[in-house]
Amino acid sequence: MNKILVTGACGQIGSELVVHLGREFGRENVIATDIEKPSQHLKTASTFMYLNVLDPHMIAKIVVDYEIDAIFHMAAILSARGERDPQAAYEVNMQGLVNVLEVARRKKVDKVITPSSIAAFGPDAPKENTPDNTALNPTTMYGVTKVAGEKMLQYYYLKYGVDTRSLRYPGIISAETAPGGGTTDFAVDLYIHAVTREPYACFISENTPLPFMYMPDAIKAILQLAHAEPGRLSRRVYNVNAMRLTPAEIVASIRKYIPGFRCTYQPDFRQAIADSWPHSIDDRGAREDWGWKPDFDLDAMTRDMLEKIRGKFTIL
Ligand SMILES: NC(=O)c1ccc[n+]([C@@H]2O[C@H](COP(=O)([O-])OP(=O)(O)OC[C@H]3O[C@@H](n4cnc5c(N)ncnc54)[C@H](O)[C@@H]3O)[C@@H](O)[C@H]2O)c1
Repeated sequence: MNKILVTGACGQIGSELVVHLGREFGRENVIATDIEKPSQHLKTASTFMYLNVLDPHMIAKIVVDYEIDAIFHMAAILSARGERDPQAAYEVNMQGLVNVLEVARRKKVDKVITPSSIAAFGPDAPKENTPDNTALNPTTMYGVTKVAGEKMLQYYYLKYGVDTRSLRYPGIISAETAPGGGTTDFAVDLYIHAVTREPYACFISENTPLPFMYMPDAIKAILQLAHAEPGRLSRRVYNVNAMRLTPAEIVASIRKYIPGFRCTYQPDFRQAIADSWPHSIDDRGAREDWGWKPDFDLDAMTRDMLEKIRGKFTIL
């Protein structure tokens, strides 16, 4: 990996990934792209340009012009937004991925790294310690596109030898960039409301367990997978796990530091999405093949989140 294209770089994960890539490979070697305006942060860390992943010619042009040899494909429409507009989710998540894979095949890009999600699992998968290989029968359009995307990655690897790599992220919690319309966004909202001293009405019920990961671990995981020796990979798509948390457990952790934080529960349509997903993930494959291990547990994450959000809101 020398010259890197990142799609969806303004998103929750892309915006932090680009900072790490910029540090490792140099600003001029990281081409960050999105259809949104970049933050100053992003512009400092990378060379930014507009790219709609539904435009295959523009993807090809950037790959040729900048001699790209690795693509981190992060552009997507997530679960909750996807249920509001399933056709848009299908188009961006499926056609966008196919466009990236086709350019990678035709222009001989070495590597394509793109996240999948626990949304690939449906209600018939085991709820606890869901394994890498199990039923993939999602009930959301987002999940449908993630399963189809995983199969596309496998296909381009087997048929064309494109080095495709993916990891099934759980809900990602972060302080820097707002999440973009997922079912686990409430977790970030809880921390922000606690710091701004506002009560929060959580849209997922208090005892719903879901798998989560703190952003520094999410970045560590995708970079570790991207750097792994090809011979160590026994599969294209890996489960990665960090914490099994309910909203009530996150609230209890926040209250250790902000005792007065008030939270009520008003589940909406996103509860059905959460109920269709696993509670915890078996990530032995990732641990055995490329040494995956998260650093953050709930209280370590809470301390770090509160400190970072306080910094952003300049509240003492
Ligand atoms: N955040 C999570 O909790 C989570 C969990 C599991 C998997 N993932 C996966 O990680 C990846 C990144 O997710 P994220 O949380 O950063 O998402 P996000 O919604 O925060 O960001 C996605 C970005 O894609 C951009 N985008 C949308 N349509 C586009 C288009 N047509 N062309 C170019 N860019 C476009 C958006 O402007 C946005 O900046 C996605 O594949 C997502 O499915 C995320």
